Amino acid sequence: MKFFIDTANLAEIREAQDLGVLDGVTTNPSLMAKEGITGEENIRAHYKAICDSVDDNVSAEVISTKFEEMIEEGKSLAKIDDKIVVKIPMIKDGVKSIKYLSSQGIRVNCTLVFSAGQALLAAKAGASYVSPFMGRLDDISTDGVSLIQQIVHIYQNYGFETEVLAASIRHTMHLIQCAEVGADVVTCPAKVIMSLLNHPLTDKGLAQFLADHKKAKEAATAPVG
Ligand code: G3P
Repeated sequence: MKFFIDTANLAEIREAQDLGVLDGVTTNPSLMAKEGITGEENIRAHYKAICDSVDDNVSAEVISTKFEEMIEEGKSLAKIDDKIVVKIPMIKDGVKSIKYLSSQGIRVNCTLVFSAGQALLAAKAGASYVSPFMGRLDDISTDGVSLIQQIVHIYQNYGFETEVLAASIRHTMHLIQCAEVGADVVTCPAKVIMSLLNHPLTDKGLAQFLADHKKAKEAATAPVG
């Protein structure tokens, strides 16, 4: 299972990369705006900085919504670095763009996917990744993990190579549920990845081990008599 981090914050990306478990980064226009990155040159420079911080798989989303503009923007984004995966929304011109860009050897992540039918279209068009947003489905009282499971099952039925990239992950249980149903990738905020570390029994057990070691060491070095 691949771990992507869902942020445009360089410090968070570098911290996750430093942990040694990161396989990629996903961004979107909202996450870029959150970092205050605007203007084409700044945006390109920021994507380049992200690419230089990780091994591969940096999703950069197009802003255009018309086919010709989407493919030009996609080609331009792909030129920033070989690690770029062009993120394309699940709309009619988006499906055409996925087909075109994929045929040109450009990896595409189809985003804003909320149904199995949309995921099927993305795979048929040749997307490298499909991004169902499980958290946003949960927000409207729809079972996000069931959709992930359904897409994994459909792709297995037909041997589609498109990887299921579970997005809009809000907490560690989402991540674990995705792992249980066989999602290829999860993308999550830094705090979700870091939260995987936590268990009170680990903290309690380590404190006990260290205390016992200290006691034994003190006993061994204490003067006899
Ligand atoms: O990057 C797409 C997705 O992960 C967004 O998540 O939390 O804004 O629904 P969220």
